[in-house]
Amino acid sequence: MSYTEFTRRGFLKFAGVVGLYGSFLVPGKLLAMEKRGPLTPRGGGKMKLPDPVLDGEVSLERTIHTRRTVRSFRSRALSLEQLSQVLWAAQGITETGGFKRAAPSAGALYPMDVYGLIGKECIEELTPGVYHYTPTGHTLSLIQEGDARRTLAEASLWQMWMAEAPLNLVITAEYSRITIKYGQRGVRYAMIEAGHIGQNIFLQCQAMGLEAGIVGAFDDSKVTQVMGIKKTHEPLLILPVGYVR
Ligand SMILES: Cc1cc2nc3c(=O)[nH]c(=O)nc-3n(C[C@H](O)[C@H](O)[C@H](O)COP(=O)(O)O)c2cc1C
Repeated sequence: MSYTEFTRRGFLKFAGVVGLYGSFLVPGKLLAMEKRGPLTPRGGGKMKLPDPVLDGEVSLERTIHTRRTVRSFRSRALSLEQLSQVLWAAQGITETGGFKRAAPSAGALYPMDVYGLIGKECIEELTPGVYHYTPTGHTLSLIQEGDARRTLAEASLWQMWMAEAPLNLVITAEYSRITIKYGQRGVRYAMIEAGHIGQNIFLQCQAMGLEAGIVGAFDDSKVTQVMGIKKTHEPLLILPVGYVR
């Protein structure tokens, strides 16, 4: 089934809602390497990511102006600093001494998680696998090993262009973390939040000379299975990231 056919069937009803818009430090990299513990699947060990850069060279207006959904990526690898920066833009802690994040969240309940599906030789020094980002401490943990890009693309209605991207970011929602306060309306809020995170990723990529795509057409349970993540973490958006071909 093509993406167009899929959208026609109405599976992307939430797309309009989530459409709301909401030079790296080398010493940081060395620090990350020093602090890295042994990364073993299922969260055994956390790796401290390099600190994010808080001042870029490209204006916000230019990033908005040049942002486009890209569906063709080069096989060129990304650096750990680039991965760190894009994860920070997605869900990094931005409140000094606090817990608030780069993207807004209804009631500051943060029902979202961001996973990175990384291919073979796609991000320097990281074995291929599925990684979970923890905002507190700005760390990564390994969920499962292996280059699952093709199976992720197949689970996304055979949008095989996704498998070319060195990094696929998967944004998930755990609805119970927000419905506990807002009831069923919390589901809507989580979907809106996914849109904000997605746009942050898009704009951060633009500011770093990278490009991103965005995918909402996928089989939820297959994506969860491919990623080896909890069933309660429901995938809402996938953003393939890399250099444009
Ligand atoms: C919620 C959502 C889901 C989307 N799903 C897909 C998808 O599965 N595959 C795809 O190729 N593009 C997908 N897109 C991208 C749109 O097709 C794209 O944003 C639109 O064509 C406008 O182009 P632009 O993003 O370059 O401005 C999606 C966009 C949104 C907001």
